[in-house]
Amino acid sequence: MSKLVTIPDIQQAKTEGRKLVMLTAYDYPMGLLADQAEIDMVLVGDSLGMVVMGLDGTVEVTMENMIHHIKAVVRGCKGPLVIGDMPFMSYNTSIREAIYNAGRLMKEGGCDAIKLEGGLNFVPTVESIVKAGIPVQGHIGLTPQTASALGGFKMQGKDAAAAMQIIDDARGLQDAGVFSIVLEAVPAPLGKLVSEAVTVPIIGIGAGSDVDGQVLVTHDMVGLFDKFVPKFVKQYTQIRTIILDAMLAYKKDVQDASFPAPEHSFKMPGETLSQLKAMIKQ
Ligand code: KIV
Repeated sequence: MSKLVTIPDIQQAKTEGRKLVMLTAYDYPMGLLADQAEIDMVLVGDSLGMVVMGLDGTVEVTMENMIHHIKAVVRGCKGPLVIGDMPFMSYNTSIREAIYNAGRLMKEGGCDAIKLEGGLNFVPTVESIVKAGIPVQGHIGLTPQTASALGGFKMQGKDAAAAMQIIDDARGLQDAGVFSIVLEAVPAPLGKLVSEAVTVPIIGIGAGSDVDGQVLVTHDMVGLFDKFVPKFVKQYTQIRTIILDAMLAYKKDVQDASFPAPEHSFKMPGETLSQLKAMIKQ
């Protein structure tokens, strides 16, 4: 088991200038591997809708989907801080419902903190969830749950007014009590400005290198999901090809009867076998 990561550890990393490492996970094996790799924060993201459930976006992901996957990750992931993503419409209709659903992710899922998308508009919601004792991570810039309103999965903060809005969002979330903020798909210089504008860690995904940490969707990073690969993703391996090659080799072995080989088969003592043969003949 890797070292236990706490919310104060996350805040202290920025003070000490130590870059934070965050990845997504959706199941027990990936949770175990993230634990073994001593990743600081593991997000059970609603990206599971796309990379695990095969949906076109994240909007259809439900509270039940999230709780199911958070539980599996938490069983494997003991050291990293595990963050559960609030799905679309689980925090948008009322503050009361937002607190209730954030509590469900922690009580039923077992995660350590929650993440929700939105800037200044969600300050009262974030404030109330934090006051209820639930650590919150913000998410600004490109917010996939409202991607269609933002014109698709596109870079945000292109002009001065839009960039200023993102800085104001970060400041507002900081004042509301978030312990860190995910900043997605903005120009690298804006990533630096946002990180300098607040004291809470800014975790970039397509926000350049001058932020306080990075997050990637693990299925993108290991080449398991290739429907589309965003510009900001670095693929460290092509696990999809490795799995596909193994499946094709297994298929061939089954078809030509070279699997199972004797070493994969259980033996029966000779005496029992001859008794059995005699019984079958009768
Ligand atoms: O759902 C998710 O995986 C996310 C990351 C892209 C940060 O929100």
